[in-house]
Amino acid sequence: MFKWKDAYSCNIAEIDSQHKRLFELGEKVYDIVSIKDGFDHYDEIMSSLFELQKYAIYHFDFEEKLMKNNGYEEYDSHVKKHREFFDKILELSKKDIDENQHKVSMDILVFIADWIENHILKTDTKYKNYLNSKGIY
Ligand SMILES: [Fe+2]
Ligand SMILES: [Fe+2]
Repeated sequence: MFKWKDAYSCNIAEIDSQHKRLFELGEKVYDIVSIKDGFDHYDEIMSSLFELQKYAIYHFDFEEKLMKNNGYEEYDSHVKKHREFFDKILELSKKDIDENQHKVSMDILVFIADWIENHILKTDTKYKNYLNSKGIY
């Protein structure tokens, strides 16, 4: 479901490799959503959410430092969007996951797809030319 294509590239090796990690997390959640074995998948859902949270902390921090250290002018609005994503992860974590496993894993899947399509593709790729012009690849 989550296939990397060149359009997602920010032309910065470390950023692209971190973004690819989000695709992997999305694929994992897709697997959880797709299993229809009737068994309990609470632990897998919780571990995906936890990984997503750890990923967001690490990745947002990395990206924000890079933007800030290079005087990127859309830094503030970009950070605001990161905060919204992080709040949404916390919100997902607070749901009654055990009772609504399929629904919550679908919500996580939609959330990651939105992150990729709207944030990586539209907001992250915006700093590409600027950071490249500062010699960052
Ligand atoms: Fe970002
Ligand atoms: Fe990013």
